[in-house]
Amino acid sequence: MHKITIAIDGYSSTGKSTVAKQLADYLGYVYVDSGAMYRAVTLYAMQNDIISKNNFNIEKLKESLPSINLRFEKKSDWKKAHIFLNGKDVENEIRNLEVSEFVSPIATIHEVRLKLVAQQQQMGLEKGVVMDGRDIGTVVFPKAELKIFMNASANERAQRRYQELLGRGEVVEFKNVLKNIEERDHIDTTREDSPLIKAADAIEIDNSEMNLEDQFHVVLQLAKDRIAGRI
Ligand code: CDP
Ligand code: CDP
Repeated sequence: MHKITIAIDGYSSTGKSTVAKQLADYLGYVYVDSGAMYRAVTLYAMQNDIISKNNFNIEKLKESLPSINLRFEKKSDWKKAHIFLNGKDVENEIRNLEVSEFVSPIATIHEVRLKLVAQQQQMGLEKGVVMDGRDIGTVVFPKAELKIFMNASANERAQRRYQELLGRGEVVEFKNVLKNIEERDHIDTTREDSPLIKAADAIEIDNSEMNLEDQFHVVLQLAKDRIAGRI
């Protein structure tokens, strides 16, 4: 069967990565979590005195980019591919709230985006890929055959993320999770380079009232229709 490229964009905690992964597993496609790449660069910046609460050394970040090596690796007993930063598995570390607090400023930097977008496009060369992020349908794969744009209310999204962080044993306050989501939404939608915006040909799904199963069926049907050329 002929393979397509599927781009899933949208706001934080709308279920993009969950549905993208389910879809890739179902179709036998490769799943790429582009947000993990921005998070890994952010972790590097935090570990190398490039970004902290009172400091953001943009020049040092740009100079450091050639020393940042990112790759994904999948082992048979892992549910999804893990991201490796300079040879170290950082899949868990990049999900904490501290990384979430610094990632959006890092993702505004043009040179960071150039590097990551080039690597993402390379990973999608052979199609059969589902990638989720903020600029996949607009910048990374503007010709993707299927583009989905996911949304849900900020409160619902913060509840989801709060439960997820608690489940991982991270002690956080709900109000801080909500604040982070709202701040990231603001930075991601207003930045100059590749802002989060619905591509003209993307299909919008609001899943505030949908569970994971419902949203998967909606997206899977769209993918099947697109692969079969029905839509
Ligand atoms: O999973 P969550 O929605 O919390 O975020 P993510 O997908 O892990 O992305 C983290 C951050 O990386 C976003 O808030 C954006 O600032 C940035 N990002 C981006 O700019 N472009 C992408 N394609 C993916 C993520
Ligand atoms: O990738 P993104 O940040 O858009 O979201 P995610 O990591 O797939 O989902 C964030 C959390 O919300 C996860 O714990 C999902 O299980 C949950 N979720 C949900 O409960 N119901 C939905 N319809 C979508 C996501």
